Amino acid sequence: MQDQNLKDFLKEFIISDSQLQEVYKRFTAEIRKGLSQAAHKQADTKCYMTYVQDLPTGDEKGNYLALDLGGTNFRVLRVALKGHHEAEINSKVYAVPKEIMTGSGTQLFDHIANCLAEFVNEHSLGDQHLPLGFTFSFPCIQLGLTKGLLVRWTKGFQCAGVEKEDVGRLLKEAIARRGDLVIEVMAILNDATGTLMSCAHRNPECRIGVIIGTGCNACYVERVENAELLEPEYKIDKPNILVNTEWGAFGENGQLEFVRTDYDRKVDKHSLNAGTQLFEKMISGMYLGELVRLVLHDAIQKNLIFVRNTVKHNFINILKKDIGCIETRFISEIENDSFPDFQQTRNILKELFGLEKASVEDCQKLRYICECISKRAAKLVAVGLSGLINKIAEPHVVVGVDGSVYRFHPHFDFYMRETMHKLVNPKTRFELMLSEDGSGRGAALVAAVASKN
Ligand code: GLC
Repeated sequence: MQDQNLKDFLKEFIISDSQLQEVYKRFTAEIRKGLSQAAHKQADTKCYMTYVQDLPTGDEKGNYLALDLGGTNFRVLRVALKGHHEAEINSKVYAVPKEIMTGSGTQLFDHIANCLAEFVNEHSLGDQHLPLGFTFSFPCIQLGLTKGLLVRWTKGFQCAGVEKEDVGRLLKEAIARRGDLVIEVMAILNDATGTLMSCAHRNPECRIGVIIGTGCNACYVERVENAELLEPEYKIDKPNILVNTEWGAFGENGQLEFVRTDYDRKVDKHSLNAGTQLFEKMISGMYLGELVRLVLHDAIQKNLIFVRNTVKHNFINILKKDIGCIETRFISEIENDSFPDFQQTRNILKELFGLEKASVEDCQKLRYICECISKRAAKLVAVGLSGLINKIAEPHVVVGVDGSVYRFHPHFDFYMRETMHKLVNPKTRFELMLSEDGSGRGAALVAAVASKN
């Protein structure tokens, strides 16, 4: 893409190496604060204790149920752990209608219990009394493996009466209200924790699980002596604890203002949880499309793209009014497209604006806009991962990765590695591995490891 004016316009999305270093410094300081007794209250990244202290060995066996709430879909799963690092999974996706996402907590948990019952009946599991792991992917203060108080909703959920409550209890009560299911809730966990467990099940050197999907978060293995908030009795027998960083909240005390743009501020302002999850809002699938929408709107208005298009005022109107019209998957499709056909890009432009013939130059420009936004996101994830890898400081660290942005974007992995090579201590060799169903397999593994203890 050669157009200097468009490049200048997008400059603020390009994070320089010195800015990267600064974000790195601030991020690692924030993680240390999260872990420390004295500074925890002020930390953005709360580094919650998960009460999971063992990684799987691969020998785990048994049948489990798992629930997965907090991504694009709600899922119920049946997981058979088979030993030899293997698992067999059946699952079903259930919609969570918008009214339920923003309705009452009782409605939400009744919906979950109803889907669970449907699944159990369809698979004739009613008489098996399977233990259940609940992957609940929102920030929770855990008071043990089966008790988790929701701190606040994120990612477009806003159900009344759940914040500060124990989601394990709410689930059990909804199951009891139905009266026809016998299920033991064995564990509540975060999807980042599930991803770490699931990847460690296949590769024992895995130490970090990261989600780059609807939201963004990471969980890692910390030494108990560094986890100041962990009660002493958990430090006697075990050397480690999995920590859910909730790094999506980084930036809430102003630490990211020097790299945030007015577009980030707008995305935040229009969200259900304004002022919070600011790091996440620069990275995750729920927000990247929105960033592109706002940037594209201004770029058209400033005559930087679609310049010769006679109906461009229509485009401007659509982009202005139709919040959410640019889905994050479009970014992946556009960046995956091939020059000079740009077939997918043209399809998207047709779908969005009814545009029949986009010029090659406009397609290239649109791709450049997407690239600037996704590259920035990948760089920020890389900062977080490098911080955790350097903190773990082992010679070889495997990172388990899950989430739609990472999975479907053609270059996200490459962009991340590029930055990680700049920031990770050269003494450490790191590897990224794609997770296989972290939320399901991970939930079963947490439940399995728990029952071993
Ligand atoms: C949000 C949630 C976090 C979750 C992440 C990825 O950041 O707060 O708990 O892990 O999304 O789903």
